[in-house]
Amino acid sequence: MVVARRLPAAGLELLAEHFEVDAGDSAFERAELLRRVPGAAAIVADPTVPVDAELLDAAGPDLKVVANFAVGYDNIDLDACRRRGVVATNTPDVLTNATAELTLALMLAAARRVGEAERVLRRGDWTGWEPGQLLGRELSGATVGIIGLGRIGTRVAELLQGFRVRLLYTSRHAHPDSIWAEARLGLERVTLAELVEQADFVTLHAPLTAETRHLVDAELLDRFKPGAVLVNTARGGLVDARALADALRSGRLAAAGLDVFEHEPDVEPELTALEQVVLLPHLGSATATARDGMARLAAENVIAVVAGKPPLTPVSA
Ligand code: GLV
Repeated sequence: MVVARRLPAAGLELLAEHFEVDAGDSAFERAELLRRVPGAAAIVADPTVPVDAELLDAAGPDLKVVANFAVGYDNIDLDACRRRGVVATNTPDVLTNATAELTLALMLAAARRVGEAERVLRRGDWTGWEPGQLLGRELSGATVGIIGLGRIGTRVAELLQGFRVRLLYTSRHAHPDSIWAEARLGLERVTLAELVEQADFVTLHAPLTAETRHLVDAELLDRFKPGAVLVNTARGGLVDARALADALRSGRLAAAGLDVFEHEPDVEPELTALEQVVLLPHLGSATATARDGMARLAAENVIAVVAGKPPLTPVSA
């Protein structure tokens, strides 16, 4: 049996060809999930489902795989999985482009004050074209700093090529792919401090781990170039939201575009109070193309592992 808290039809149909599937057409709450998992061979989780020792033990010894319907896997206790011999998988690649495109949407929306301007119009406060109204800043020719040059960070760099920006990046490891991307996309590797001191736009593409939690805190925000724009389509926990709100209120940062929050679906009231923040409800991979690809890949991982084959896209601690 496979328990899927929720999964689009593209994945459910594939699973149903092989297994009895217990799927929530509405999301299972935690208690309901704990009731349904005993005896499951696989659980399809997502960023809203903490996969911890309690859930794994509730499933019991038949559990072979936890397939995350997401590329990020900070919701999964990988040590707890490893100790129980449970394989964990994610859905990379299929959502890279969708998430990178949403990153550009947020860069442009924050820089050109799209949310704020639309609210002016919808409130009926627009009195006609004015030369000085709602002036923003241009992305073309700016310096963009990419924190984390993995698949999504690299795709953002590709999409930015037409804007003729200067591209900086930080990466904890000198990965061969990054070195190749450097040459191909004209990226300069710098330290985190150098990146935030020089970038007009800073965009986050690092995973959330114990080391990256609140990477963007008051101390780092103090080093940002005055008037910079921060974009986060990675994980809310990378940013100390209170410190960000302070930096926006003081004018240190001009604007922010945020798709993710530390305590979703709650959004810090300090942020919703600010006109210069564009806020989206975690939509990075929200295209039919990406979500169908993710659903199929999650299902294929389950099918492979339960059949005793290697997973297509395993994650490792
Ligand atoms: C979504 O947040 C994901 O990690 O895919």
